[in-house]
Amino acid sequence: MRKLDLNLLWDSWLGLACHALVAYGRDDVYTQLTSEIAQMVRNGRVLDVGCGPGQGAAALARSAPGLFVDGIDLAPAMIQEAERRAKKMGQTRVSFAVGDALNLPFSDEQFDAVYTIDSMKHWPDRAKGLREIFRVLKPGGFILAMELDRRASNSAVRGLARGGPLKYIPWPATWAMFRTVAGAASFDRDEAQRMFSDSPFAEVSVGALSALPLLVIRGKKRELR
Ligand SMILES: C[S@@+](CC[C@H](N)C(=O)[O-])C[C@H]1O[C@@H](n2cnc3c(N)ncnc32)[C@H](O)[C@@H]1O
Repeated sequence: MRKLDLNLLWDSWLGLACHALVAYGRDDVYTQLTSEIAQMVRNGRVLDVGCGPGQGAAALARSAPGLFVDGIDLAPAMIQEAERRAKKMGQTRVSFAVGDALNLPFSDEQFDAVYTIDSMKHWPDRAKGLREIFRVLKPGGFILAMELDRRASNSAVRGLARGGPLKYIPWPATWAMFRTVAGAASFDRDEAQRMFSDSPFAEVSVGALSALPLLVIRGKKRELR
């Protein structure tokens, strides 16, 4: 049997609906990530890889007046929605384009920081995606990646349902979706540590968001000497 290609899902109204189911009401996650970036980079250019409908990019641009945020996503439907949202909010310090994490449409050393939320699990070659992010970062720049923890506890998985529409879905359905599709496609803490340690990034650390099944991975591109 052919494996379901989740990337076909994202480029459709169904993808936008699935995204809303999980992400709506989860401003806490975007805020946590964007406030960390805004503290570390006051002025500059930041890239969101696999930006989806642009919630993270919009939150970052809103909270950090010195930043310009680029978002790329493989799915044209997501980029259209991100552009619609930015226009509606009158946000001019964001720019979106269709693009592949494995072949980023930017020249070398353009960005002060790169982040990615909930997208890496879909990349067919994660090591290549990390090398691409490293390439487009300036020396001294950093990566912040958030992704589902494949081995998250059930209580952390339950955290997904707090604060968003998932609370209306019966718990067994959420559990099954996580254990067989979304979470199952991802990696765990040890795998994340290995993957980033094998990448060109330095100062790698792997943490987690409390009460949610999310890993937070940080790494740095060393300054040139
Ligand atoms: C679960 S959504 C997350 C969207 C957004 N980061 C957020 O948290 O709101 C995953 C996104 O990753 C995108 N994606 C998957 N593979 C990709 C790739 N190779 N390059 C760029 N984007 C990709 C999908 O199209 C989808 O929009």
